[in-house]
Amino acid sequence: MNKLYDEAKKALKNSYSKYSNFKVAAALKLKNGEVIIGVNVENASFGLSNCAERSALFTAYSRGVRKEDIVEILITTEQDEFISPCGACRQVMNELMPADALVHMTNNKGEIKTVLNKDLLPYAFSEDDL
Ligand code: THU
Repeated sequence: MNKLYDEAKKALKNSYSKYSNFKVAAALKLKNGEVIIGVNVENASFGLSNCAERSALFTAYSRGVRKEDIVEILITTEQDEFISPCGACRQVMNELMPADALVHMTNNKGEIKTVLNKDLLPYAFSEDDL
C-alpha cells in the first residue's frame, strides 16, 4: 500500500491540469505486482479532459491487462480532503475492474479510505443490460 501511495504521489507532477490546477494521480496494482500509473489530462475543450483513474485503466488495457489481472487502485491529490472518483470513472471502473477490487481514496495527510469497487456504483449499467 505504501508503495502504491508513494508511486501515485510521485506521478502527481505529471498531471496535465493547467485549467483546474487540480492534480490527480491513480496507481493500479496488478496481481503480478506491477503498478500502472495514470494522471488527469485536461484540454482547452474542458469536456474532453480525462481523469487519472481512466488514464490508468486505459493505459493498462492498452498493454493487454484485463479485469482479472487487477487487484486495487489508489487515487491521490494534493488536497486535504479525500479524493472520490467521479461518476464517469465509477462507470468505467465498474466494467474494467473486478467487483471486489479495492479502491483506496487518500488525502494529503496520508490517510486512506478503502471501499470495494462494486460499492461505488449501485445499480450500475453494464453489459448485462444490453
Ligand atoms: N479528476 C480526476 O482525475 N479524478 C477524480 O476522481 C476527480 C476529478 C480530475 C478531472 C479534472 O482534470 C480535475 O480533476 C478537476 O475536476
